[in-house]
Amino acid sequence: MARLESRYVCGTCGASSLRWEGQCRSCGGWNTLVETPGRPVGSAAKRAARSRAPVAAPPLTPLSAVAAADTDRIPLGIREVDRVLGGGLVPGSLVLLGGEPGIGKSTLVLAIGGAIARGIDDARVLYASGEESASQIRLRATRLGVAHGVTGERIDVLPESNVERIVAAADTCAPQLLIVDSIQTLTTDELEGPAGSVGQVRASAARLQAYAKENGVPVILVGHVTKDGTLAGPKTLEHIVDVVLTLEGERYSGLRLLRASKNRFGSTEEVGVFEMAADGLVEVADPASAFLEPESLGSSGVAVAAILEGSRPLLVEVQALVTPALHGSPRRTVSGLDSQRLALLIAVLGRRAGLNLASHDVYASVVGGLSVEEPAIDLPLAIALASALRDKPLAQGSVLCGEIGLTGELRPVNGLERRLREAQRLGFGRAIVPQRMGRRGAAEAENVSGMDIVRAATLREALAAALGPSIDRRSELEPTAIPVVGAGR
Ligand SMILES: Nc1ncnc2c1ncn2[C@@H]1O[C@H](COP(=O)(O)OP(=O)(O)OP(=O)(O)O)[C@@H](O)[C@H]1O
Ligand SMILES: [Mg+2]
Ligand SMILES: [Zn+2]
Repeated sequence: MARLESRYVCGTCGASSLRWEGQCRSCGGWNTLVETPGRPVGSAAKRAARSRAPVAAPPLTPLSAVAAADTDRIPLGIREVDRVLGGGLVPGSLVLLGGEPGIGKSTLVLAIGGAIARGIDDARVLYASGEESASQIRLRATRLGVAHGVTGERIDVLPESNVERIVAAADTCAPQLLIVDSIQTLTTDELEGPAGSVGQVRASAARLQAYAKENGVPVILVGHVTKDGTLAGPKTLEHIVDVVLTLEGERYSGLRLLRASKNRFGSTEEVGVFEMAADGLVEVADPASAFLEPESLGSSGVAVAAILEGSRPLLVEVQALVTPALHGSPRRTVSGLDSQRLALLIAVLGRRAGLNLASHDVYASVVGGLSVEEPAIDLPLAIALASALRDKPLAQGSVLCGEIGLTGELRPVNGLERRLREAQRLGFGRAIVPQRMGRRGAAEAENVSGMDIVRAATLREALAAALGPSIDRRSELEPTAIPVVGAGR
């Protein structure tokens, strides 16, 4: 084997250098450079020689004459996964599945393996695990119902963490799907570093990508997510793979969400909803209502938001709790919501709607472990805060959506009709939505008949519609120590 010229690649920014250095020259990070296999010595000289010699032009192909790539997807028959993937696994693609420890990554990949084994005649699935023994995998497979019969016969289990040996095994059994659990446990013979080091993760992923492309086999890599929410290993791993899936949810509640944060073969907006049960991840029959807690609807501090995740309308429950801050600066705690957005809404409520939360502790969350980034959550969140502050519940059966601007104006949301139809289907009879409509919004809202639709131009109007006309006035519930902006009007 040719001697390799070492390269050192920054794990933070991906810049590479020929020598190890304590600090990356590109991003300034300390101890971020990691050994990476280089090209054989001499190739640089050869390249230089080649660049001076005349180069024969490679043949060109007009785009119209390029044969359409064979992107026949392999549907899994697991509706929620197929939805997120955009119809199924693409042969030759490299998929990274990330998630926090214990969230259910191994369960999901085994279920996917089972689906392929069950769905394709004479299928072979290779499940390589550097984390668990064959008997541990068998235990889970039994629980998921994929260990027995032809399904179990078609899945090969390989407890192995050396990537060359995994690829050699795959070359022998020629599977329709290769699963590797997890990328952080893999090592390659090319490098000395420990498993999980940036160099090992990168080189192993590159090796598996080459396998996937050469053989047209989809490869699913499991990857651990670190505490700060990034996929462990270099950022470049996300560039190497074709699809990045993330499994999220509250560890101690049953609901799990699968999202694609990158997808070279489809939309990144779709979300799959599962429930973690004893027999694995079970598809949720009606995801639109999975994030509602019937027991708490009708309490103060609770508002129902009609949001859109990709093309899927979801009704989610926003809960807020507001208490006078006892000492020090008031707390703001969020779960599933953006804390900056909460701070902004508190400011807008104070300045534009006469509801002062400046000396209150504020807790706000979305039920069920969903994290909502959509701006349409602004209005339901603001109303939940006001409802909590005044200890006044919303009328039952109301849904809300709308973005709030700094002047307290309500901005239009897209897909209003889809949101309202879903709310109506689930028995909500009243909606408070922005008066300003998107390009097709006005017509959209009119299409939803039989629902009481209140169009509010401002947060103040929405508050009055949701909680009553005098909600911004001082009420006896408010502690006297707090200055009241709206008093006397
Ligand atoms: N016997 C069981 N019955 C019901 N649920 C179980 C059982 N064993 C495990 N689980 C569920 O499966 C979850 C673990 O799933 P899994 O091992 O797939 O997670 P993971 O993301 O692969 O974890 P890790 O990061 O440890 O690899 C547990 O949190 C638990 O909820
Ligand atoms: Mg696991
Ligand atoms: Zn760097």
